[in-house]
This record gives sequence, C-alpha cells and structure tokens, in this order.
Amino acid sequence: MLVNGDKILHDAKVGKYAVPQFNINNLEWTKNILEECQNQNIAVILGVSEGAAKYMGGYKVVSAMVNALIEELNITIPVCLHLDHGTSFESCKKAIDAGFSSVMIDASKHELEENIRITKEVVDYAHEFNVTVEAEVGHIGGTEDNITASSTNATLEDCLALVNGTNIDSLAPALGSVHGLYKGEPNLDFETMARINENLSIPLVLHGGTGIPDYDIKKAISCGISKININTELQIAWHEAVKKFVSENPNSYDPRKVIGSGKDAMKEAIQAKITMFNNK
Ligand code: 13P
Repeated sequence: MLVNGDKILHDAKVGKYAVPQFNINNLEWTKNILEECQNQNIAVILGVSEGAAKYMGGYKVVSAMVNALIEELNITIPVCLHLDHGTSFESCKKAIDAGFSSVMIDASKHELEENIRITKEVVDYAHEFNVTVEAEVGHIGGTEDNITASSTNATLEDCLALVNGTNIDSLAPALGSVHGLYKGEPNLDFETMARINENLSIPLVLHGGTGIPDYDIKKAISCGISKININTELQIAWHEAVKKFVSENPNSYDPRKVIGSGKDAMKEAIQAKITMFNNK
C-alpha cells in the first residue's frame, strides 16, 4: 500500500523509533528493499533522488514500477514513495503528478526567506493531493548524486521560521551529518537537535545515515529523529558482493546473475539498519 509520510512518521515519533528511507536506483534495488522490509514487517520510505529518477526513465516509470512491485510481490507493509532533495517546485510537482506520496523540497541553498517561499509553494500544491512534504534548513554537506556540498548547521530560530512559515510535515535540520562517507567520526549537534524537537511537533529527519555509529543513531532517535536516510551504505554492501562475484565468476555475463549477486549483502545491510532504528 502506498502511503504518505504522515502516520508512519508520527507513529515513529511517539514510539521512539525511526522509519528508514532507503534510496532506490533500479528495479533490483526496489525489489530487494520491499522484500526485506516486508520480511521484517516494518514501514519503509523509498527515496528517489532526481538523478535516480532520471536514470530509471522518469518519475512516471518509478511510480508505475513501485506500484506494480507492491501488487505483484504482495507487499502489505506501508510503503511511502518519496522524492529525495527535490530542487524546485517544478520537480516536486512532476513527482506528485506521477503519483509520489511524499516529496522533499530542498531549497536550503537559498536564503531563508526564499527557502520559505519555495517550500510553501510546494506544500500548498502537495497538500491538495494528500502528499506530505519534508524540507531542509541549514545545509547538509557531503556528496550525493555526484554533487558535493559544504555544510552549514541549522539554528532553532531558522527551523521555527521555516516550519511556521510553510506548514511542512517533517523537517531535516542540518546538524553535522553528511551525505556519503565521513572523514573521521560524525559530529552531530545533539543539543540543538533536542531543542528543535522540544519546540516543534513535527517529526525530524536525519540525512546522511551511512557511517553514523549505533550509539549516535540511538541518541538521535531519543532527540526526536523519526526518519533516517540511507543510500551509500547499501551501495557499498551491494558493490562489495558484486566485485567478489565477478572476480570469482569472470565468465558469467548474465546481468541477472551479476546484478543479483549483490542481493543477499543488500538485504543483510537493510536488516542491520532496521534493527538499529528500532532500538532492538
Ligand atoms: P547517505 O548516502 O550518507 O546514506 O545519505 C543518504 C541521504 O541522506 C539521502 O538523502
């Protein structure tokens, strides 16, 4: 069942656990994530970056593929199809029109006033279609979709201004996490995270989940994080297994075997994250 982010994230906030967002890149990725989350019986958010959507043939292709997999694989857990880091109103509108149930508008590269203006435009359109909206304040650094950015941490004042000025459904405040691999230990600002959580009723989102140690994940959840995004970690798990398969089977050229050889490693990585996010 395709759902928006509303109930699954509020349930997580109340229950003090985090819903995973796993980013998808292709059919196999989507299938593996859906199967493993169904197996674990947890709600999942499928994150689709603009680059990944383009790679897969566009938002309509992604939406049709996800809906068809839910039906054909008998997936009964709540599944949220979410645009990750939408960069403009037009991009978010395209995803919504194609059937996405949730979008992130990331106007965080603009000044706060402009971020609020763009985000509000997306919220006004999305809410007409029961689509939930996540937005970013401060700026999450690191590398994603081959784009590298530097970080600026969010302040409580800016978070309040963005939320009150837009009516968004969830907030991703930049507080030290980065996309991709960390250079050294992550340094998250838990104090500001907790203060933001005390002053807001909407769920908070942690981007850059790859490489954040177990104890920091637990602390982040206790500070109000209800959704954690994972992309790079699944890519690395998949890649390690495929490299091994190719070196051991140099004459195997069937793409189903080559791509499929990363399946178990991906599922193990998904399982580990789910255990961590549910405080098990
Ligand atoms: P990682 O690639 O660091 O896991 O981050 C994913 C993410 O935040 C997607 O928005």
